[in-house]
Amino acid sequence: MASTEGEERAVYPGSFDPITNGHMDIIRRGAKLFPRILVAVLENPKKATLLSTEERVAIIRDIFKDQPHIEVEAFHGLLTDFTRVRGARAVIRGLRAISDFEYELQMALMNQQLNPDLETLFMMPSARYTFLSSSLVKEVFALGGSVHELVPPIVEQKLREKFASNPESLSS
Ligand code: PNS
Repeated sequence: MASTEGEERAVYPGSFDPITNGHMDIIRRGAKLFPRILVAVLENPKKATLLSTEERVAIIRDIFKDQPHIEVEAFHGLLTDFTRVRGARAVIRGLRAISDFEYELQMALMNQQLNPDLETLFMMPSARYTFLSSSLVKEVFALGGSVHELVPPIVEQKLREKFASNPESLSS
């Protein structure tokens, strides 16, 4: 297989708690524009997550195990520090609706302030994912709804495991 070392990579950061088909759609779209996509999973001890950082990274690595141009890493601290160390000049973020815009604009402008050489690119997911979010997936699953069409199979499996071991874990 051809090496992807040295090729331009874009960073796709997020919490991915858990990764959804909407995130997958953005990664696929980003991979059409950049030779490599580095999925950067936020490790934030202050934010309670359903899945640990290790679980979130392992799930996404498993999903893309046959696609070496999609890399997955955890990061903590400033995104601009992480992108600098990884040599990335672009950050990709998905924009689903106007409601995402204010938060995204604020982050993009802050990152621009911290590193003027870093560009944030916004991508629209397929219209069928505009309603989708990790929080809603957890809520729907916890209330007994089907998330089959909303997340990759490994995520559905993980949600089942979490729910079986601790039904309360999904209720927050
Ligand atoms: O999936 P999310 O939770 O919307 O992703 C948010 C994320 C990870 C992109 C954002 O919280 C982030 O970049 N955090 C790192 C800390 C940072 O760099 N903060 C300053 C810029 S806003």
